[in-house]
Amino acid sequence: MSEISSETRFLHAIEMGLGTWQWGDRIVWQYGHGYSVEEVRQAFQTSIHEGIYFIDTAELYGNGLSERLLGRFLKETDQPVLIATKFFPVPWRFRKAALPRALKGSLARMGIENVDLYQIHWPSPLMSTETMMEGMAECVKSGLARTAGVSNFGQSRMLAAYSALARHNVPLASNQVHYSLLSREVEKNGTLARCKELGIRLIAYSPLEKGLLTGKYSSENPPPGVRGSQYAELLKKLPSVIKLLQEIGQNHGDKTISQVALNWLICKGALPIPGAKNSQQAEMNAGGTGWQLTEEQIARLDHATDNIREYSSRPPSS
Ligand SMILES: NC(=O)c1ccc[n+]([C@@H]2O[C@H](COP(=O)([O-])OP(=O)(O)OC[C@H]3O[C@@H](n4cnc5c(N)ncnc54)[C@H](OP(=O)(O)O)[C@@H]3O)[C@@H](O)[C@H]2O)c1
Repeated sequence: MSEISSETRFLHAIEMGLGTWQWGDRIVWQYGHGYSVEEVRQAFQTSIHEGIYFIDTAELYGNGLSERLLGRFLKETDQPVLIATKFFPVPWRFRKAALPRALKGSLARMGIENVDLYQIHWPSPLMSTETMMEGMAECVKSGLARTAGVSNFGQSRMLAAYSALARHNVPLASNQVHYSLLSREVEKNGTLARCKELGIRLIAYSPLEKGLLTGKYSSENPPPGVRGSQYAELLKKLPSVIKLLQEIGQNHGDKTISQVALNWLICKGALPIPGAKNSQQAEMNAGGTGWQLTEEQIARLDHATDNIREYSSRPPSS
């Protein structure tokens, strides 16, 4: 592994974080149906209590509501919390000044003076990586963001971001990408290895494959809303994976299916940020930290999921 820069070292010391897309989002997560502000407040409090203090949000989540709720909860705790949020490059944002401006909006919603990690949510065809990274460097140099990261960047874009930031003497701290036992593209196309090589922290989003890796969903009982149709095919292949996760968990001090799935990511060198809607989910997910699957268990999980999707071995161009 390459030398990790002193500015980004803290990210490499974090085993797991908490995702907050659920906090306010009605379209995918149905915020307001079955859970609301009190439940997500408890998810926050339980996470902090369990030692999960790295929280990932975005200006986009719930149209700013996720950041506003997080801001409220931050005021109710005296525990130190690390905050990551994201810039969304909507088409009318194409100048570097859009980044510090958007970040100030996020900071105002959260009621804080700076974030620990500011990420580009998605690459944009209208704003070059160079321009985005100029804006990012400005955010870091002005003290609004402690570190700069990207999200959903393929290898070549990630390398371009890394080099562009380096010209401003700012390290690329992280790349937040889809990674779970059921979505192993970043492992197969070399992005994970490249991140390790360059000291970039790979943050794994949808680490429970939006709830599929908890054992509660099946073809007969699909997840509600858009997830049901999104995962119709994958659900058919799920039972054998769930059975194996269950068996491994039972043989490893009675860990749950989701805890084994999250620990597998930690063992791979990623930082999973499972989303939680309530205290129970937050507590269970936190139990995925502080221990390690054996090499043999990892190999069995690898083997069981190797062909669950078709992966291209070439790095994507995005
Ligand atoms: N950068 C990006 O483009 C991007 C994209 C997606 C996500 N993210 C980030 O990554 C975070 C996590 O990803 P995600 O939310 O998509 O998916 P996820 O973490 O794989 O799944 C979260 C969902 O699974 C269910 N769940 C979680 N823990 C559970 C438990 N212990 N027991 C039973 N059910 C449980 C809950 O939904 P139900 O109870 O409804 O099943 C929860 O909302 C997000 O919150 C967000 O911060 C980023």
